[in-house]
Amino acid sequence: MNNAIHEIERIVEEACSRKTNIFGYGIWTHHISEVARNAKRLAAMFGADPEIVEIAALLHDYASVKDSSLYDDHHIHGPIEAEKVLKILGFPLDMIEAVKHCIASHRGSKPRERTTAEAECLANSDAITHVKNVPSLLHFTFVQRGMGIDEGTRWLREKLERSWNKMSPQVQEMTREKYEAALLVLAVSEQKSLEPS
Ligand SMILES: [Fe+2]
Ligand SMILES: [Fe+2]
Repeated sequence: MNNAIHEIERIVEEACSRKTNIFGYGIWTHHISEVARNAKRLAAMFGADPEIVEIAALLHDYASVKDSSLYDDHHIHGPIEAEKVLKILGFPLDMIEAVKHCIASHRGSKPRERTTAEAECLANSDAITHVKNVPSLLHFTFVQRGMGIDEGTRWLREKLERSWNKMSPQVQEMTREKYEAALLVLAVSEQKSLEPS
């Protein structure tokens, strides 16, 4: 199993390193790898299978990394891409279905019912990683997506709020300090834009 997970890491990291990946290589180092680490760390708390959450974390944003036109619906394309990878690597069907459900339901902006502990664990790990990696979100917003200060600040604030809202109460408590600090920084930025020069 470890070899198969290493192979998934290799496949996803390779996709992250391509020039066509609009998020830049940082999505591997500062998001996907971190989500996988957090998912393994939180698995016991959710009573989730650590292998399923690690695989789902590695593959959860893979569709949009491979093809930026799939970003808006990567909760739909992600499970399809994950199935292709996992079938080639010979994973059993029940594991593939479990991973697909995690990916289909991981987004705060496209809420889908999460019916398994593994899906809850992935959504929480994704959210924690956003809140704890604000520089990575800033890079994505202002550098990769090229948003202006006001538009980007609003977008970031809404993204962080969605991340917060998809966390379980226990994970919110673990993350509250970071979340409030991030909102404070963004609030200052929003106020500044209203001040006359
Ligand atoms: Fe995602
Ligand atoms: Fe993500």
